[in-house]
Amino acid sequence: MHVARPHRYHTIVLCILCVNYCNIMCFQKFIIVAALCKIVIEGKEFLIEAEDERTDGNHELLPYRNASDHKAVLVKGGTSLSINFCLRQRSFVTIRNIRYLNLKKSTLLNIVVNENLNYGSYFSVPNYNQSNVFNDTRSFSIVHQLEAGWNILKVYATNSIVLDMFLLEVNDSKLNNMIFSCKVICIQQLHFPPRAKSVVTPANMAQNSFFTKCAEVDNVDIPIYHPHVNAFSITARLPQYKTFANRRQANLTFCPHLTQTLWRFDNFSVTHFSKEMYGNFTFLTFQENNLSSIDVNVIFRQKGEHTGSINTDMGSQLFLKFISVRNDVFITLRYKHRNGSMITSERKRFSESHLEQMWKIPDYTWIETDYNYISLVLYTKELSHLKIDYLRLDRRPFIPDRTITLYKSDNIIIEGVQVDMWWRGHERMTINIHSGNSYEGFAFLRLYRPVPWTRGYSQVFILYQDGNARFLPVSPEGLDWIPFGTSVILGQCKHDSIRPYVSITQVDIYPDDMKLVIFFKDGGYLRMTLKVTEDFTQAYFDNIVFMNDTSIYPFVTVRSMYVEEGNTDVDSIKVDDVKTLNVIDNWGTVPGKSFAFHRRCLSRHLTLSPDIQIDILKT
Ligand SMILES: *[C@@H]1O[C@H](CO)[C@@H](O)[C@H](O)[C@H]1NC(C)=O
Ligand SMILES: *[C@@H]1O[C@H](CO)[C@@H](O)[C@H](O)[C@H]1NC(C)=O
Ligand SMILES: *[C@@H]1O[C@H](CO)[C@@H](O)[C@H](O)[C@H]1NC(C)=O
Ligand SMILES: *[C@@H]1O[C@H](CO)[C@@H](O)[C@H](O)[C@H]1NC(C)=O
Ligand SMILES: *[C@@H]1O[C@H](CO)[C@@H](O)[C@H](O)[C@H]1NC(C)=O
Ligand SMILES: *[C@@H]1O[C@H](CO)[C@@H](O)[C@H](O)[C@H]1NC(C)=O
Ligand SMILES: *[C@@H]1O[C@H](CO)[C@@H](O)[C@H](O)[C@H]1NC(C)=O
Ligand SMILES: *[C@@H]1O[C@H](CO)[C@@H](O)[C@H](O)[C@H]1NC(C)=O
Ligand SMILES: *[C@@H]1O[C@H](CO)[C@@H](O)[C@H](O)[C@H]1NC(C)=O
Ligand SMILES: *[C@@H]1O[C@H](CO)[C@@H](O)[C@H](O)[C@H]1NC(C)=O
Repeated sequence: MHVARPHRYHTIVLCILCVNYCNIMCFQKFIIVAALCKIVIEGKEFLIEAEDERTDGNHELLPYRNASDHKAVLVKGGTSLSINFCLRQRSFVTIRNIRYLNLKKSTLLNIVVNENLNYGSYFSVPNYNQSNVFNDTRSFSIVHQLEAGWNILKVYATNSIVLDMFLLEVNDSKLNNMIFSCKVICIQQLHFPPRAKSVVTPANMAQNSFFTKCAEVDNVDIPIYHPHVNAFSITARLPQYKTFANRRQANLTFCPHLTQTLWRFDNFSVTHFSKEMYGNFTFLTFQENNLSSIDVNVIFRQKGEHTGSINTDMGSQLFLKFISVRNDVFITLRYKHRNGSMITSERKRFSESHLEQMWKIPDYTWIETDYNYISLVLYTKELSHLKIDYLRLDRRPFIPDRTITLYKSDNIIIEGVQVDMWWRGHERMTINIHSGNSYEGFAFLRLYRPVPWTRGYSQVFILYQDGNARFLPVSPEGLDWIPFGTSVILGQCKHDSIRPYVSITQVDIYPDDMKLVIFFKDGGYLRMTLKVTEDFTQAYFDNIVFMNDTSIYPFVTVRSMYVEEGNTDVDSIKVDDVKTLNVIDNWGTVPGKSFAFHRRCLSRHLTLSPDIQIDILKT
């Protein structure tokens, strides 16, 4: 295996002037120049083993206790060893070290990258006496700027030498192992020709994104403002990187808030003494009533609508399991309802043959703004030795969505979807089909268009009641479906919540014209016309009426996901096809007429979900 691990951060000083005028041939020289320029660049070190599944087959693999990974390869005199590595973008690469062992003859090592970039040579003298002591070349003085993508480092040896590992430093703080080891390929320059005419005035996009480790959180949050936008378009295209992988599974690693369990306490004794166990604002306490009765209390906080969660609205299930029960135990559940009353639930009996019981707690019980409280009033002949395997509160299971086909023709299918629990409480939208019926109670709608190369249809558009709109080109030939990714909230978003939203009350659909008129709760509306071709899906918006201050409220807000390069739904933004920004960087506010939210690095998450371009068309 070709192992690369980020070693440590290294701050080096480089100079822009050097790049432009002397193309950096000598590191020391440019350190001196750089000292005058004071430009600090983050470098990152990566370790590559000389041995991997490929080089092992072509060179003799030698075990060495002292070698990193306890292995090294023998490079025979007059031959070379080649190592592959990849870069995210054009970057300066320094060879910080090559670890070797030379027991025989003096050997000259020549290092060349991509067959034509010379990194210089190193003269190694043999160390006859100590057969297990590796030596380090240390830094090579030559620095080259290498291109994004695949690079090959080649070491020529004049005489036999044992090579253990390489340490490279790259001045790209976003480069990671997946990219450096070429498991994720990044492309350098992408083009997104703007649709905007030069007469339109620019919009401003603002950075509101935050960091996350959970790939299922929309941590990218970029509102776009324009004081007088009269028409704009949103275009969805396949990503420009080349891949034949269609990864579309959710990744719930580091997403504790998305699991069904709200809290749990494992393996504890019911004691006479009041004690507290806690974690994450969840407390477990005991209160003795008399010799045969004790209260087990849990006080906890719960997330709700304010943070974009359904946990306070959704009903739950309380599970309790004893490790063993000598005498029957009777437990009554009491809990505080959000209206303030204490509710007493049924009494349950636990015995050696019934160690586990579950209580159902209805929807809309818990509260977000205060502590929640449950009390298990436990009664048994002998309180000692009562050991509980677990006590846990789960969200109840979802009832599956109900999908209703509202309209179907050779050209379009319109579906409305009713969901069990919608995070916007009781808000739902009404869908009116032109010269057809009116339907109520939907959390979202879906549009399908025919796929010309099959006899079927493909989902191309979803609109949620909270304004989230998702666009998708038709499934490419050979694939059944591809996933949605980046979404765009249409309309004037409220930003007083961690999860921005609008309230859509009604959508009028003109199926023959592929037109939708979207009405907001505050009285605003806009019209959308959908165009689907073999390589993109495009929505054109006009007839825009907004009720609120357009300098304070955005007209669209882009939501997406970025954990690290190679694990994103979007990694870059191209503004007016000129400037590329990283989607998570702190760039403040940026004006533009065209914003292309795209990926440069092949993502393991929703690999084929589309790039989304937003163009201002009339102002
Ligand atoms: C490592 O290399 C240096 C420079 O060639 C040499 O002076 C030193 O003795 C070597 N050490 C070992 C352990 O081979
Ligand atoms: C290596 O061993 C030889 C004798 O075997 C000795 O003369 C020499 O000093 C040793 N060198 C080192 C660096 O230990
Ligand atoms: C190699 O191992 C020897 C002992 O076997 C130890 O003295 C020496 O420091 C080690 N050298 C390196 C470079 O790890
Ligand atoms: C790497 O160095 C070059 C030259 O100074 C600079 O233009 C580039 O922005 C640097 N990249 C990073 C990520 O620091
Ligand atoms: C899932 O996401 C985590 C980061 O949140 C990442 O470390 C891991 O590699 C991802 N898993 C897959 C299969 O992509
Ligand atoms: C439960 O806790 C006891 C100590 O309180 C410990 O000895 C035992 O190993 C734990 N059991 C499990 C399954 O963790
Ligand atoms: C608290 O949350 C962390 C992760 O956010 C989790 O690992 C831990 O188990 C939680 N503790 C409890 C008592 O739920
Ligand atoms: C013990 O306390 C429980 C709960 O308060 C009560 O129902 C029960 O009657 C009490 N028993 C005795 C013997 O006082
Ligand atoms: C609180 O809600 C519960 C459950 O719906 C109900 O039984 C009770 O009467 C309500 N109490 C008040 C004070 O509204
Ligand atoms: C727009 O303003 C009206 C009244 O001024 C208000 O009721 C409404 O909530 C506002 N809309 C948003 C998105 O804040």
